[in-house]
Amino acid sequence: MTPHTPMTPVAAPAPDIGPAPGGLRSQGWLAGDDEVAVLHRVALASAGLPVGQRAGRPVIGIANSASELNPCNLPLRDLVSPVREGIEAAGGVGAEFPTISLGEDLMKPSAMLYRNLLAIEIEEMIRANPLDGLVILANCDKSVPGALMGAISANIPTILVTGGTRSVTSFRGAPIGTGTALWRLWDERRAGRLDDAGWRELERCLSCGRGACNTMGTASTMAVLSEVLGLMVPGSSSIPAGDPRSAAGARQAGESIVAAVSGGGRLPRDILTPAAFANAVIALNAIGGSTNAVIHLAALAGRAGVKFALDDIARLGAGVPVLADVEPSGSQLMPDFDAGGGVPALLREIAGLLDLTAITITGRSLADIVAEAKPASGAIRPAGSPLRENGAFGVVHGSLAPDGAVIKTSAASEHLLRHRGPAVVFRGYDDMLARVDDPDLPVTADTVLVLAGCGPAGVPGMPEWGMIPIPARLVKAGVTDMVRVTDARMSGTSFGTALLHVAPEAAVGGPLGLVRDGDMISVDVRAGRLDLEVPEAEIARRQASFRPPPPAHLRGWPALYARHVMQAPDGCDLDFLRAPTAAHLTFVEPVIGRS
Ligand code: FES
Repeated sequence: MTPHTPMTPVAAPAPDIGPAPGGLRSQGWLAGDDEVAVLHRVALASAGLPVGQRAGRPVIGIANSASELNPCNLPLRDLVSPVREGIEAAGGVGAEFPTISLGEDLMKPSAMLYRNLLAIEIEEMIRANPLDGLVILANCDKSVPGALMGAISANIPTILVTGGTRSVTSFRGAPIGTGTALWRLWDERRAGRLDDAGWRELERCLSCGRGACNTMGTASTMAVLSEVLGLMVPGSSSIPAGDPRSAAGARQAGESIVAAVSGGGRLPRDILTPAAFANAVIALNAIGGSTNAVIHLAALAGRAGVKFALDDIARLGAGVPVLADVEPSGSQLMPDFDAGGGVPALLREIAGLLDLTAITITGRSLADIVAEAKPASGAIRPAGSPLRENGAFGVVHGSLAPDGAVIKTSAASEHLLRHRGPAVVFRGYDDMLARVDDPDLPVTADTVLVLAGCGPAGVPGMPEWGMIPIPARLVKAGVTDMVRVTDARMSGTSFGTALLHVAPEAAVGGPLGLVRDGDMISVDVRAGRLDLEVPEAEIARRQASFRPPPPAHLRGWPALYARHVMQAPDGCDLDFLRAPTAAHLTFVEPVIGRS
């Protein structure tokens, strides 16, 4: 195996406008003897953080996203104390503050609508407060990338602590994975093969406590990739919730962030180099991770000023063995991945593909971590015996997706990766729900199901509606997969031959919105093609009559989001939050005086 060519930076980062090199940022608030410095020290002392006696000690923010509206993040409550202990043992001061909690299950239309809001919140909390470093406590899907995006833009030393995956329970004698089992058994229910008692029993089994999904969903994928990117304590991203190692890892994170601040560096943009992102893409393929990570990596790279192209997913994935035998790409669950050695063991297996000089927030390089890693076992296959060859993703372009679409080939049906069939089009979620199980819907197993109007600006928020249900009539006939094409996303726990994130989306005039029932669609994932077989003149005629849908939101966050959100290949960030030039990377400090 040979290392891949890494991605390239957009431009050399501009220096931040901040305290003098070597000086603590917090001293801008706390040093001195005037009324403003006294006001600031009194404020912290009144919160139980007597910085007056600890002058010169780094102040570390502990951004806690635990919430009862988000059971995935609840284990984080128990990690605040060990993080604080680690900070104080290393000579720092820990200051906990709450953040919005992005829970995937309850937030509608999708937690994705609020990822960028969390990013803004984190960036602005850093800007406005005397923080020298940051510990992010996050777990559920969007809470990790959202918080990291904000921290990258602020560019102060940052470390991530995740809360781990929830415990595994059994349904009718077999372990079941969160998300994946529900989608599969819902189809069984729709086909009449799972009765009321079974359905109720499944609900009880799935109510198995706090923590992230125990499959390789988006949360576990982003935790793994954050560790690969160098933003976590090595080996900590896969520890199950409640495991005693969680507290030890949290304490170590507290110690590490103080060391990073005191060492005068290891800023997010020092760590998040083009090589680090290339490593993450390779790891994403090796774990058969969530398609959502493709969007999140693009967003993180955009904040770091690193050029990231959708085609990098397939280019860097070529030749990468898929090694994580974890649902939905494999058959085991995240505790098995952890028992198999976690990220260090995975990195050891794919070391020949990686740039091992990449540095982490702990100061150690990937080479150091690999040198100490155990051989992979259990749910992490050895490189010589992969789950599948040549990566886990396909990227397609064509007349139906001029700016691209992505598919998780590791969770798709091999025989459908090259397919041609007539379209049945749903225009929005309600339309899909209303008609997909209609016995008169003109579908066969060869039909290409299209769901349009569900992209970043379209809903807004690009919900995970892309795993379009197989029509009930076909489920009953034994059909388990069909080609689906959409501008929506799909849950990381989902599976099936779904071409996702089609760009540009229908709501901004993309050709997906011009497809009509019966149009022929051809897919060839290996050739990287997704085409609408309609004459160009007819497409132009339809395009001429396209009118963007009127905005549903005229005010508030959803309206701001819909106006500024970028397309999936750009990470669905807001256009004014990205860093297209070096100047945009500048983090402007506030004027520190009387408030
Ligand atoms: Fe929160 Fe899966 S729903 S981690």
